[in-house]
Amino acid sequence: MTTRAVVVGVGHYLPERIVPNAEFEKSLDTTDEWIRSRSGIERRHFAAEGETTSHLAVAAAKRALDDAGLTPDHIDAIVVATSTPDLTFPSAATMVQAQLGMTRGFAFDIQAVCAGFIYALGNANALIMAGQAERVLVIGAETFSRIMDWTDRSTCVLFGDGAGAIVLEARSGTGNSDDRGILSVDLNSDGRHRDILYVDGGVSTQTVGHLRMEGREVFRHAVEKLAATSSAALEKVGLTKADVDWIVPHQANIRIIRGTAKKLEIPMEKVVVTVQDHGNTSAASIPLALSVGKQQGKIREGDLVVTEAIGGGLAWGAVALRW
Ligand code: UT7
Repeated sequence: MTTRAVVVGVGHYLPERIVPNAEFEKSLDTTDEWIRSRSGIERRHFAAEGETTSHLAVAAAKRALDDAGLTPDHIDAIVVATSTPDLTFPSAATMVQAQLGMTRGFAFDIQAVCAGFIYALGNANALIMAGQAERVLVIGAETFSRIMDWTDRSTCVLFGDGAGAIVLEARSGTGNSDDRGILSVDLNSDGRHRDILYVDGGVSTQTVGHLRMEGREVFRHAVEKLAATSSAALEKVGLTKADVDWIVPHQANIRIIRGTAKKLEIPMEKVVVTVQDHGNTSAASIPLALSVGKQQGKIREGDLVVTEAIGGGLAWGAVALRW
């Protein structure tokens, strides 16, 4: 017998305002065609003035709790993956805790940029396996529109705002790969690559800063590292690509998503794709895709899901789980 962290609820929230690619043609030397063909993005959502990361996170969390048939009283811990918290401190997670009316348990943020939700899943899984929490609300929430340089066409057309959440619950399993729940976690980082994706400001420099990216360089690392970490997650639990029902990738670029699937020799019919509608929402992209994938009737109980992401750091990783 072993303890497994099983997904019992999922939900997402997107801000009301939808911005199609054509809107950028008004202010930048770009086209809908360029953005679509180079990234696969067609539109993204931007948060309204005054709408912050914790607001998005709370809306997604409420939907995940409803989906699980639970109330905030049932939750022992909240983990929020974000690089765009409302304030330097307290954590977005404690703000979510308060807004949900939850007066017990504990809450904290995780910062691993676009790989944040993978790191959050790894940490939530460890808390459950260690018996420190029975139910954990794991949220990815971002307002990347707040760190865009609107004069930089190579970055500002790529990102969007949103939030997704899941509820993980401790259940007993047999310890083999037929169990529902998180089966393996593979985490990696390499800080030598900080200059290809970063924000040129921060608390210690008394600025907010803007996102800077050498897209071509990030792209070069992405396919290889995402395929390797996905394979590593499968190997850890004795599974192969033939066992995979769904790949739920970080949604940064359709060409990266296709390239990774090809390298893994997994057909695109088994890949959940939302990048066209959401753009790159950093740590929110995977829980958004999980939620949409379930809503669309794709991801079902018992399916083997591999989810993978890479982002600033570089930090990357994958989780294999049975839904
Ligand atoms: O979530 C974190 C991880 N991030 C990623 O995974 C992003 C990884 N990178 C990418 O997705 C792609 O590299 C981009 C979508 C950012 C760019 O696509 P690319 O095919 O690598 O294009 P590129 O950077 O090589 O640029 C090609 C050309 C350049 O012009 P020159 O130098 O060839 O004359 C750019 O200046 O496209 C130009 N360009 C644009 N043209 C029209 C860059 N941005 C734009 C734009 N509109 N918005």
